[in-house]
Amino acid sequence: MMTHKISPSMMCADFLDLREVLDIFIDEGIDYLHIDIMDGHYVPNFGLSVDFCRAVHAYTRIPLDIHLMVDNPDDHVSSFAPFRGAVFGFHPETSLDPPETIRRVRNAGLRPALVLKPDIPLEKVKPFLNQIDLLNVLTVNPGYSGQPLVPGTIEKITEAAAWIAREDLPLEIEVDGNVSWKNLPVMLKAGATVFVAGTSSIFSSGGDLRAKLRRFRSLIEAHS
Ligand code: DX5
Ligand code: ZN
Repeated sequence: MMTHKISPSMMCADFLDLREVLDIFIDEGIDYLHIDIMDGHYVPNFGLSVDFCRAVHAYTRIPLDIHLMVDNPDDHVSSFAPFRGAVFGFHPETSLDPPETIRRVRNAGLRPALVLKPDIPLEKVKPFLNQIDLLNVLTVNPGYSGQPLVPGTIEKITEAAAWIAREDLPLEIEVDGNVSWKNLPVMLKAGATVFVAGTSSIFSSGGDLRAKLRRFRSLIEAHS
């Protein structure tokens, strides 16, 4: 049975409070730090950077969960190799040869992951699921935080969980986008095991971050 993990979306954090935020995450035993990297081309936005990864990686030993919304991910694998053991998640349609990219990522000492945006069906990645460590089912369109869940994406989590169980694959299923207090139990029931926490939960405006984190964790425990 996969343990359930929390991966706070660092692009949603208050950058002026970053050290305090990271201290709370260390204290509360957070599992991953979700890092959105964008190139302004695959998506019309610029997210976090390699320098940001270097800073948080030097300050905490929490594994990085890197989500690349970039074209030609092969060109960027070596930039993330210093963060050994980090999850390196790329969108399959951005790679000319996904199995080759997966091999390159694993050879760099990183954990390969595939990210499915809402209009990409599970069929597209079924042939590669036995080569990766984590499947990210993106429940919003890539590029921005604070968006509403795209209908049909919960069903994709259910479909992925059924396929992974049938194939008996040791794969984590991550859900990313609008993981709200209301959506979290539904996503967990559908089979998600890693939850990207963003603006609709722990990083919502107002309230105490540690208290919201504990609420998030107790909601997971209550529905596990
Ligand atoms: C969107 C990113 C998400 C985003 C989540 O492209 O991949 O990680 O930051 O933010 P919320 O939780 O606000 O949807
Ligand atoms: Zn993301």
